[in-house]
Amino acid sequence: MGIGKRLERDNTESKKENEKDSILVKAKYSLSDLIISSNTEANIFDFLSYKKHEKLIFNEWGLSQTHKHQRQTAINFYGSPGTGKTMAAHAIAMELGQPLIIVDYASLESKYVGETSKNITEIFKKAKENQSIIFFDEADAILSRRVTNMTHATDVSVNQTRSVLLTLMNDYDGLIIFTTNFIENYDPAFMRRILAHIEFELPDLLCRERLWKKYIPESLPTKVEIKKLAEISETLSGSDISNCVLKAAMSAARQNSESILIEHFEKSIKEVINSKNANNKSNTKIEKKSVSETYVESQIGKEKMMELKA
Ligand SMILES: Nc1ncnc2c1ncn2[C@@H]1O[C@H](COP(=O)(O)OP(=O)(O)O)[C@@H](O)[C@H]1O
Ligand SMILES: [Mg+2]
Repeated sequence: MGIGKRLERDNTESKKENEKDSILVKAKYSLSDLIISSNTEANIFDFLSYKKHEKLIFNEWGLSQTHKHQRQTAINFYGSPGTGKTMAAHAIAMELGQPLIIVDYASLESKYVGETSKNITEIFKKAKENQSIIFFDEADAILSRRVTNMTHATDVSVNQTRSVLLTLMNDYDGLIIFTTNFIENYDPAFMRRILAHIEFELPDLLCRERLWKKYIPESLPTKVEIKKLAEISETLSGSDISNCVLKAAMSAARQNSESILIEHFEKSIKEVINSKNANNKSNTKIEKKSVSETYVESQIGKEKMMELKA
């Protein structure tokens, strides 16, 4: 059923009180766990081959002394949520035999402005000591264009974090992995320092078939054809498919059904699609322009308006 090796967190993992910004973990997934398009897979293999040659050229042949700043140390996985970007970071770490330092960006940012540089510097130091990969998961905010029209203290802080990060990246020869779900404007300063941007697409028909196969255990009582499930699950991500199997099994169990029928799967797929649509709608709502008070009043009436204002 292709369920690959999943390693448990071991004692390299630590989260002391004063180390909340980052956590050291051992890779949990291998490349064989990932179901991705041949294109994405080829890009990952290209990158791994670069890493192999990089060691030879920079370390053994000594170009790290003469070409220090030409060494690119970062890659970025981008694409829709639930397509396997976080898994891929673990798989790469496993392939390279290194642990990951997962950076909690939100925690870094919530610190006082002056603390930021110290914290990031600590993370890079910790990475070097542990020979680990620095992992900025869901790093949309870091990689997007810098805020030029600063109005808030947080904007200043975000910019400061990026400046410090860029400087540290210049002197760093380990690997940094970023993942992003969606960013409109990449900061060109980061673009220059990122070796490859690898896209994670929503799974095509063939990948969906493999995903359903992976997430339906052989012992699940069902006669539903995998091909059929792949056909009716367009727009679903790997994560959605895994959730759908669980939901379908739950609803069959709730109904005391002896097996999981196509209706159970259809219902779970529908639920996932609906919740995704609802989520998209609420995102658009945020982007709506504000309207004048007079307009609102004309729509809801004077009385309601008074209530709102009270
Ligand atoms: N390409 C994939 N192959 C296999 N399983 C997947 C894939 N994408 C997502 N999954 C499943 O969904 C979960 C969440 O995926 P994740 O890697 O966190 O997605 P992302 O980081 O792109 O949002 C995984 O733990 C796995 O169970
Ligand atoms: Mg992720």
